Amino acid sequence: MLGIESSCDETGVGIVRGHTLLANEVASSVEEHVRFGGVVPEVASRAHLEAMVPALERACATADIDLTELDGIAVTAGPGLMGALVVGLASAKALAYALDKPLYGVNHLVGHVAVDLLEHGPLPQPSVALLVSGGHTSLLLVEGITDSITELGSTIDDAAGEAYDKVARVLGLPYPGGPYIDRAATGDAAYVAFPRGLTTPKDLARHRFDFSFSGLKTAVARWVETRQRDGADVPLADIAASFQEAVCDVLTAKAMDACAVTGATDLLIGGGVAANGRLRALLAERAATQGIALRTPSPRLCTDNGAMIAVLGAEIVTAGGRPSALDIGADSSLAVDRVLL
Ligand code: KG4
Ligand code: ZN
Repeated sequence: MLGIESSCDETGVGIVRGHTLLANEVASSVEEHVRFGGVVPEVASRAHLEAMVPALERACATADIDLTELDGIAVTAGPGLMGALVVGLASAKALAYALDKPLYGVNHLVGHVAVDLLEHGPLPQPSVALLVSGGHTSLLLVEGITDSITELGSTIDDAAGEAYDKVARVLGLPYPGGPYIDRAATGDAAYVAFPRGLTTPKDLARHRFDFSFSGLKTAVARWVETRQRDGADVPLADIAASFQEAVCDVLTAKAMDACAVTGATDLLIGGGVAANGRLRALLAERAATQGIALRTPSPRLCTDNGAMIAVLGAEIVTAGGRPSALDIGADSSLAVDRVLL
């Protein structure tokens, strides 16, 4: 199964056989967005167009297969940036039509869950998935990867990665800020007690599994501004650590609560922020205490890639899913419970 991913700034082409990874080629346009401090949709779309065919050729060479040997073509149909999605979808349709192979237009978010199958095998059900990236932050109840995914909660404002990127800018660190804050956060995590969004009893009553990071982002910005106005230095290692602790504390606490409430004994994480060292450590610690098995894909499979789309496509075929029509459209706000278009 071939998988094509183009929902944001990574052009991914992956090839799998069942749960076996054969190739995973990723071309990122992140360098082109650095000077804008965020992904510019038009720039990303153009980059996908340029990277798609070379990535496809590299994937086939790595997997040592010919396109005619494929059983099907899976592609991200949403959610994501419209112009970016369209490039991947058009590529996949062209391949499906020319090669006379079935097309599977699939959900990007569910791909982040399915990718774990490549490293850890079948997913016990029910499981809880914590998806944390630059574009999404959600807790999912997975009772069947291809047919039963329920969103327990999601962010009501910024995504976790977005908060990392915005706070990095405040701290004078480059884009994308997540990895820079991760590395800078060597100081005292209790230096400033930054707010933990949606964790008061009143908030929990309505937003038990939802997240909010915009108050935290503002709190860090205020703290830094006040310091600078007073002419004092900003202790980067301490502030980065304190901010990171606030993010990871909330993500971890809500993920653990979701496991407790749903009775799930397995928790998996995905998305770019899942590469974060502190998040992985805190989750491991609390999961062990609560008797939860933690499934953490390798960081290169956590960020956007084609293999996650390919393995979801393979899983759909195994489950007897029907191919998508060749005229499906991209859906930039595709709901997580629609696995296949
Ligand atoms: O999943 P991803 O590659 O792309 C999408 O947004 O879909 O996630 C990118 C996000 C960025 O916001 C980036 O700052 C964040 O993931 N990120 C991290 C780390 N590595 C990437 N955040 C915290 N710690 C990291 N080590
Ligand atoms: Zn993603």
